[in-house]
Amino acid sequence: MSETQISSILQGGYHHPLSRQWQAERQLTKSALVYPIFITDNPDEETLIPSLPGQGRRGVNKLIPFLTPLVERGLRSVILFGVPLADGAKDETGSQASAADGPVVLAIKAIKKAFPKMFVMCDVCLCEYTSHGHCGVLNADGTLNQAESCKRIAATAVDYARAGADCVAPSDMNDGRVLAIKKGLLEADVGHKVMLISYAAKFSGCLYGPFRDAAGSAPSFGDRKCYQLPSTGRGLARRAIRRDLGEGADGIMVKPAGWFLDVLSDAKDIAKDVPISCYQVSGEFAMIHAAAEKGVFDLKTAALESLNGMLRAGANTILTYFTEQILLEGWLDEE
Ligand code: PBG
Ligand code: ZN
Repeated sequence: MSETQISSILQGGYHHPLSRQWQAERQLTKSALVYPIFITDNPDEETLIPSLPGQGRRGVNKLIPFLTPLVERGLRSVILFGVPLADGAKDETGSQASAADGPVVLAIKAIKKAFPKMFVMCDVCLCEYTSHGHCGVLNADGTLNQAESCKRIAATAVDYARAGADCVAPSDMNDGRVLAIKKGLLEADVGHKVMLISYAAKFSGCLYGPFRDAAGSAPSFGDRKCYQLPSTGRGLARRAIRRDLGEGADGIMVKPAGWFLDVLSDAKDIAKDVPISCYQVSGEFAMIHAAAEKGVFDLKTAALESLNGMLRAGANTILTYFTEQILLEGWLDEE
């Protein structure tokens, strides 16, 4: 002991479970969780998605019974993804994205009616609704037409807001869409009550596979590399975050979360004055499940460690498919 410097002694500060908890700058709470759910246009459907363990696709009639036990256990927010399955539901411009009788609009209304306090977020993109599966309207050469895409994306966001959504979150990555949406919300007189969270730093890569299965949104040709960011592009992500703040974003999202913790930390730094969200995407969720099944680690431990990494890096809210199990099994109730 005499050899030891006083400043070398750390363990006294985290011997007790509570003093260990106090080490966190941000703790995982139920109110930080956003649960992503898939809604089909087939009202009575309830189908498990094989590549997303335990997760399903549901019609609007199955939604409230599914959500009720989660709400009873503390679910505060969902993000909705529409999955149009009907013949003819997809076209070149994704015109059905916000149809009045489409799955997302019906789901917003049903959820707000059953659970008025729920914070309902809507992913805003066209890829689930376009015949080509890309995230906007295309030019003749197959590239995204920014002006047309922004117009459609903004109109879609406004329709969701009018239906009662609390938050619209564009994930399409067209340049200029945040400004177009913000203006649209203001013109529709809902700009004061609808939050705009931009998927500002959204990277292309291999981690969206199970989602594209679930949503039926894989592109029919090419890939998304010319609009989603290259995974090496830390600087591009910083530029996108600054840009989207300047265009009126009320919150910034980083996606995927786990492989981009540096970007999450950058986001916290650059966008100091807005909440930072991150999305633990389908591939991350499936990967943790697969490894747990192989006996690499315990599922709950790994899931909570992964989420703590995101909080440490700077996240205020986390979109994760683990929300269901966390709430139903009381993972946050014990301590
Ligand atoms: C739509 C969208 C995607 C995800 C969220 N919004 C798919 C994609 O960009 O291909 C991915 C979410 C996940 O993988 O869990 N643009
Ligand atoms: Zn998309």
